[in-house]
Amino acid sequence: MMSAEPVRLAVRLAVLLSGRGSNFEAVLAAQSAGDFPAQIVLVGSDNVNAAGLQTARLAGIATTALARSDFGSKQEHETALHSALEAHDVEVVVLAGYMRLLSADFIARWENRIVNIHPSLLPAYPGLDTHARAIADGAELHGCTVHLVDAGMDTGPILAQSQLTVSPGETPEALAARVLKMEHRLYPKVIADFCERLRATR
Ligand code: GRF
Repeated sequence: MMSAEPVRLAVRLAVLLSGRGSNFEAVLAAQSAGDFPAQIVLVGSDNVNAAGLQTARLAGIATTALARSDFGSKQEHETALHSALEAHDVEVVVLAGYMRLLSADFIARWENRIVNIHPSLLPAYPGLDTHARAIADGAELHGCTVHLVDAGMDTGPILAQSQLTVSPGETPEALAARVLKMEHRLYPKVIADFCERLRATR
């Protein structure tokens, strides 16, 4: 007899990015490798020239480019973003170098459905220039964090971290490159776990 396994549809992801999109590429590679519980259905950007948008187009993924300057207010900009997410039936929003703070209203509409990767061991070094700040402080450990997004800046509940030891005399650029490699390993795994759990509750 055929087993009555429920059909487990992939979780529909939107990736938001503002630049090169290497984390997006890492998630896409994990998806393409198979056995991934999610599917990127939309890539959105506030930067019409973001390299990540071009990567998405080449991969046949729908894109939406919404320049903030084309909208009268932050609220209108976010309303357009929200509409695009809804139009693609997005379930989880993956921030991958999206350089804009989302409003509390937007986050409330996507409560516990927005994940971010940040290049430090949060709660240390929220915000920008994390690698240079860690080196300037003489930090021995550094790394990256995947967390749920709340209304603060890089403050939401932590899902996972990867850490490394800062080498003596290491430059911010060298450290950034090492952390970025860890990001590319960590983010797809955490997204897969997160989406697997979400799928189990459907
Ligand atoms: C990464 O360092 C990520 O941690 C941070 O923004 C950067 C994005 O890089 N949030 P990329 O666009 O994914 O290459």
